[in-house]
Amino acid sequence: MSSGFTLAPVPTLDGSRAPQGRVLGDRGISYGGDYNPEQWPEEVWAQDVALMREAGVNLVSIGIFSWALLEPRQGAYDFGWLDRLIELLHAHDIRVDLGTPTASPPAWFFAAYPHTRVVTREGTTLGFGSRGMASPSSPEYRRASVAIAQQLARRYGQHPALALWHVHNEYGAPVSEDYSPTSAAAFRTWLQARYGALSALNDAWGTTFWGQRYGEWEHVGVPAVAPSVVNPAQRLDFARFTNDQLLACFIAERDAIRAESPHVPITTNFMAGPCPAVDLWRWAREVDIVANDHYLTAADERGHVGLALAADLTRSVAAGRPWVLMEHSTSGVNWQPRNVAKRAGEMARNAFTHVGRGADAVLFFQWRASRSGAEKFHSAMLPHAGTSSRVWREVCALGADLGRLDEVVGSEVRADVALLWDWESFWAQDLEWRPSADLSHRERSEAFYDRLWRDGLTVDMAHPEADLSAYRLVVAPASYLLTQAAAENLTRYVADGGTLLVSYFSGIVDEHDAVHPGGFGAPLRDALGLTVEEFLPLRAGEQARLGWPGGDPSGDGPLELVGDVWTDDVTLDGAEVVATYLDGPAAGGPALTRNTHGAGAGWYLSTRLDAEALAPVLAAVYRDAGITPAGLPEELEVVRRHGAGAEYVIAVNHGEAAATVPLGGAGQGLADDLISGQRVEHAFTVAPGGVRVVRIAHDADDAAPTAPS
Ligand code: GAL
Repeated sequence: MSSGFTLAPVPTLDGSRAPQGRVLGDRGISYGGDYNPEQWPEEVWAQDVALMREAGVNLVSIGIFSWALLEPRQGAYDFGWLDRLIELLHAHDIRVDLGTPTASPPAWFFAAYPHTRVVTREGTTLGFGSRGMASPSSPEYRRASVAIAQQLARRYGQHPALALWHVHNEYGAPVSEDYSPTSAAAFRTWLQARYGALSALNDAWGTTFWGQRYGEWEHVGVPAVAPSVVNPAQRLDFARFTNDQLLACFIAERDAIRAESPHVPITTNFMAGPCPAVDLWRWAREVDIVANDHYLTAADERGHVGLALAADLTRSVAAGRPWVLMEHSTSGVNWQPRNVAKRAGEMARNAFTHVGRGADAVLFFQWRASRSGAEKFHSAMLPHAGTSSRVWREVCALGADLGRLDEVVGSEVRADVALLWDWESFWAQDLEWRPSADLSHRERSEAFYDRLWRDGLTVDMAHPEADLSAYRLVVAPASYLLTQAAAENLTRYVADGGTLLVSYFSGIVDEHDAVHPGGFGAPLRDALGLTVEEFLPLRAGEQARLGWPGGDPSGDGPLELVGDVWTDDVTLDGAEVVATYLDGPAAGGPALTRNTHGAGAGWYLSTRLDAEALAPVLAAVYRDAGITPAGLPEELEVVRRHGAGAEYVIAVNHGEAAATVPLGGAGQGLADDLISGQRVEHAFTVAPGGVRVVRIAHDADDAAPTAPS
């Protein structure tokens, strides 16, 4: 059957076309991980490649932290070991994702340019002996990093083993902001470009407040620790500036590489989800392929939901194109307070969730566990216990299973629901002196996502100014900063027939963190049919009960829900009241509202409901949006990828009971299990903790013949 499915071309900013469909060339799912053989004697390398072949590894990331070896003194290069390594990998048909080592400049660099060291907000100059880049604003760092990237590109840019360039490592971590004098000078230049006149900056930052007005550009500085809260607009601009400086570092390396190696895609590994320092909407436009790193939060027993969120976010910033899972772990990590090992089958469930949500490459940190250094207790594909270990056996089994999914590569995921996601809003909301310490954009985003996940809906994240017309439902869990343009976009979306659900503390400030005139949420007044007269946050542990006549999902009976953290004193302007506060500071006032605007509806929920209590709210909103959840068991995760002639159902069972997925009428009730090779009729069962990948041909006659079961 054909697997040459091609997605719409996504233009990169320089006008070139990013690779399409099969993002990593004409291969199946890429499998492997970070490979740091320079930590081992060369005799070990031959054993490594033999074991890689055994495990099904076909792509490794190398050289990511090798600057001190590759350039032992400034301008003096030693590529001998890397030449030998790349030849060895090539001889064994293992492709290379070649890193530029600029996330960890060598000791000589900091000795030569001590002023490039990063200064924290509190004024501490960070030392050497760990990893972490120099000031992203430092011209010396920019020059040195471009030079090593260029050397690597000249030497290896045409090598047949080279599949991908991996610039730097996780921009924004472990440090992002730099408060050094170098950074302060660059910040002033950045502000001059943004505002032109100093008076425009004074207006945007509202500097008449607390007597901060500037008369000279030289007096404008970085928002370091001050006696009290620093101007929030200044801090927000500093976050934007930091993002821009890091991105400029990436672009400088990328362009140097592209000039020497124009046919090999270039990426850098993102941290979609927890890392707030970089705005991936902007970064994703600059890479040829989106790549992401993800690690489970060990303390969270339902960490697989957070994993799904990160995978969906990665696919969303990639504009729906397949992406590379650059790092995850085979078992425990080493940097959380309690590094819980993955249990049998968990690694495969994690990997298949990423694949189901659009990953065409499954890579780990790292291939062989390190004996020395800070990460020696981190799991690996080849653990300290060697090949007679459970982890190794599971790594080999996963490699074999992924090897059966060639035809899935290049297929796409489709979603009916969009969850609004805006890093600038998150940066702004995270500043000090908000109305409640319990406000958390992250908690709200995760709770709404969790609800959608439990209801089995596939979700895209979307920027509030993006075209939302493809979605039946848009959820805004935390849109504190909402530009006028974004508010108009959301209002138009509703007017055109969309269903919008907005949570509290949304539509509050503009791009300068200045309150929108006309009452809180005023830019969404038309869409929601209300504004907020006053915030009524709750005390720690305080709750507010909501009465919802006719809210009981099993009939038309009444429903009572319990919220906490927040309530609002709402001024209605056309919205109908769906649920009312029974007690708390907003007693008698609206808690949940629905407004008809044009052909669509805008819902507003003014308190914090947990994922459980959100169920009836979302059920009502789904009905409004014409969405019918499949009604599968809650812990059964089912995602679909769509190819040219077929749909691939990836089912991951996180529960303790076997679960059944009906095929419905699709493919005339016939499908093929790509892992076992068995034919499936009408429905298939997923064992507790198990995974299945099933192909439903669009026309059953097209289905490839399968081995008899
Ligand atoms: C990542 C990083 C890797 C490794 C890994 C350990 O954030 O990119 O180099 O440190 O964490 O989990």
